[in-house]
Amino acid sequence: MADSRETRLVNAFVTGWPIKHSRSPLIHGHWLKQFGMTGTYKAVPVTEEDFPAFIQSLKDGSSGYRGGNVTIPHKEHAFQLADRPDALAEELGACNTLWMEDGLLWATNTDGHGFTANLDDRRPGWDATGRAVILGAGGASRAVIQAIRDRGIGEIHVVNRTVARARELADRFGPRVHAHPMGALAEVTTGAGLFVNTTSLGMDGGEAPAIDFSPLAAGAVVTDIVYVPLKTPLLVQAEEQGFPIIDGLGMLLHQAVPGFEKWFGRRPVVDKLLRDLVIADMEKH
Ligand code: ATR
Repeated sequence: MADSRETRLVNAFVTGWPIKHSRSPLIHGHWLKQFGMTGTYKAVPVTEEDFPAFIQSLKDGSSGYRGGNVTIPHKEHAFQLADRPDALAEELGACNTLWMEDGLLWATNTDGHGFTANLDDRRPGWDATGRAVILGAGGASRAVIQAIRDRGIGEIHVVNRTVARARELADRFGPRVHAHPMGALAEVTTGAGLFVNTTSLGMDGGEAPAIDFSPLAAGAVVTDIVYVPLKTPLLVQAEEQGFPIIDGLGMLLHQAVPGFEKWFGRRPVVDKLLRDLVIADMEKH
């Protein structure tokens, strides 16, 4: 006999301010179609001022949403308003995925999963290294540091222009995370098996600094969490210097998987079809 829950229309959202450039509706819409589901996933613009009322409508059921994604500028606020943030969200103080369960609002952060799942997909064995270098200490670097620490990488070196920000992260994420100024880059990259750019260096028309990747371990992976353009100036340099590179688009695609499964009940797959769909959309805008 059909369970009434299976036949009920499930609705999910992505909210931010602004939100109209989000590619999440394209990603989740693709999976809904692939599974032949009738659910919806829509972009909902909500200002910071209106955000508490939006969350309240989710909690009292009047919004009609089972859950959704939150992005800039709501990630910290959503964490504060959630009833049951998980341990990942607690440590980050931010979340990107919300869902209602047993009348309570649950929250997690799937960016770290997106990061590691992308590398697992593109370069299995990437985690067989004892040392990683993270360039940048902004909001976006946090989930990456957490995820590679939880994967068991022994030493994580965070290099940042403002070393105090890197130190904050070392304090937050524990003794395996070390903070350095930019000048230490050559020293800390020596022998590292993973290099991650989390900064916007060279993206806004400015010059990307020349980076010598040669001290990295042979075959070390260089990746970027920025995905516009797909091949960032730092990835271009790393490739020219003979290192395998992985672009950041896969992180965006993989971070969407756990949310879809929570709301719609099936675990979707990140495949070439989806990647090509998003790339085609990026080329249009
Ligand atoms: P996000 O949340 O997207 O990571 P952010 O918090 O503004 O954004 O952080 C941007 C990162 O890029 C920071 O690590 C920043 O360095 P500072 O902490 O010193 O500001 C780094 N960044 C941006 N422009 C830079 C530049 N021209 N040179 C060096 N680092 C830069």
